Amino acid sequence: MTRRPVITIDGPAGAGKGTLARRLADHFGLPHLDTGLLYRAVGLKAEKTGRSPVEIAAGLEPSDLADPELRTDGAGQAASKVAVIQEVRANLLDFQRKFAAQAAGAVLDGRDTGTIICPDAQVKLFVTASVEARAERRYRELRAKGVDTIKPRVLAEMAERDRRDSERAAAPLKAAPDAYHLDTSDMDADAAFAAALAFIERKGFRSSGP
Ligand code: DC
Repeated sequence: MTRRPVITIDGPAGAGKGTLARRLADHFGLPHLDTGLLYRAVGLKAEKTGRSPVEIAAGLEPSDLADPELRTDGAGQAASKVAVIQEVRANLLDFQRKFAAQAAGAVLDGRDTGTIICPDAQVKLFVTASVEARAERRYRELRAKGVDTIKPRVLAEMAERDRRDSERAAAPLKAAPDAYHLDTSDMDADAAFAAALAFIERKGFRSSGP
């Protein structure tokens, strides 16, 4: 591979973007940024300290990204709430654009990486799945971690987050016009990876690895 691509992956919670992003980054040897983690860090710190999310976003520190609580559903909801604030988004923009501009190329996953962060990315994927399929996956993950919950609650929280992320005025979740759509409702992680890889290879990008 001579050119180093920027690959963006957007879509709703639970569609499989994170797993796909990590696998593609690994396959192509590209640095990966989970942009949702930035919003999670802002949301969680704002909840814990009572400080303004706008201020927190302006001075996010590496240690903020290491909190084990960032992966919880509570942090996901907190992230979705601060993500509607335009100034929060503006304060996180520079970091994300710089990450995407590195010579090594990059994989970014989130909600607006193909539309706002990297409108010129060579490869854009929009990964979706039905809300039922996403809630079912999330429910199984939570149960496997020993979290006591019920399916209707997981489904309702997911639908609420979808609505907030898609209906907000600032950079709502939507597919870029040139994004490749991948519906993973009936796919496992291997099938989603194979479909994404086939699309990327059709664009002329190949792994330089063995
Ligand atoms: O991908 P995730 O579940 O970690 O994202 C958590 C929340 O952060 C999501 O509900 C909306 C927000 N987010 C965003 O607004 N823009 C992004 N690029 C990534 C996440």
